Amino acid sequence: MQSDRAAKTPRHVAIIMDGNGRWANARGLPRTAGHRAGVERVREAVRTAHEAKIEFLTLFAFSSENWNRPKQEVSDLMGILRFFIHKDLAELHRENVRVRVIGCRETVQSDIRKLLDEAEERTRENTGVTLIIAFNYGARDELVRAVRTIAEAVSAGNLDPASIDEHTVSDTVDTAGIPDPDLVIRTSGEQRLSNFLLWQAAYSELVFIPCLWPDFDRKAFYEALNEYAHRDRRFGTVSAPDIAVGS
Ligand code: IPE
Ligand code: IPE
Ligand code: MG
Repeated sequence: MQSDRAAKTPRHVAIIMDGNGRWANARGLPRTAGHRAGVERVREAVRTAHEAKIEFLTLFAFSSENWNRPKQEVSDLMGILRFFIHKDLAELHRENVRVRVIGCRETVQSDIRKLLDEAEERTRENTGVTLIIAFNYGARDELVRAVRTIAEAVSAGNLDPASIDEHTVSDTVDTAGIPDPDLVIRTSGEQRLSNFLLWQAAYSELVFIPCLWPDFDRKAFYEALNEYAHRDRRFGTVSAPDIAVGS
């Protein structure tokens, strides 16, 4: 049987890494300096996930709406992603991390697409933490693409509309094969999902913390895990002590 502590460890943690710009502003630095400082925390978060025995870690790195930022910032963010994959892929591979990428890959620059494909390909057989990078990701875009795929299967005569159920959708969205997140953490004090995992987070526990992403260290990660451990997940049922009282 699982120990109590193990039962309280989320299998899948998804993080909305927010607050890089504000962190930089507070120091009189350009926003890009905040993004660069944020990359250090990405490395640390992967290590902490491994240490805490979390199997899946999803990081929201760039949203489908982030293209609307100033051109220079978008280009800096692309540069940081390129640099991260070039520099860190070998290390992630050594640490047995399996990389998955979610989001729309068709509309990103071809060299970045190649890098993302290569990261997945190279680490496919690894058995450690699965690091899911949400890049050019928007939940509504993901659902639209999934609906289109399902409609194409129906119109090709390969799928009976009456057989479509929740599994069909879960198996068609970008996270196919990955369990839903148990815990979604957002840094920077904002309390919204910003188009992140709208299908998958139906029953996730949400933890909003004031700390800005470049300050999100191992200790802050464990504090969020501790908060999760005290939550009572009911999934629409009643909690165990209530059943005991009622019966
Ligand atoms: C999160 O930090 C990083 C990305 C969205 C790429 P922000 O850049 O959103 O930082 P704030 O929210 O402006 O402080
Ligand atoms: C969400 O943060 C996207 C990422 C963390 C990559 P944003 O900063 O883009 O979200 P809003 O604009 O505050 O909702
Ligand atoms: Mg933000």
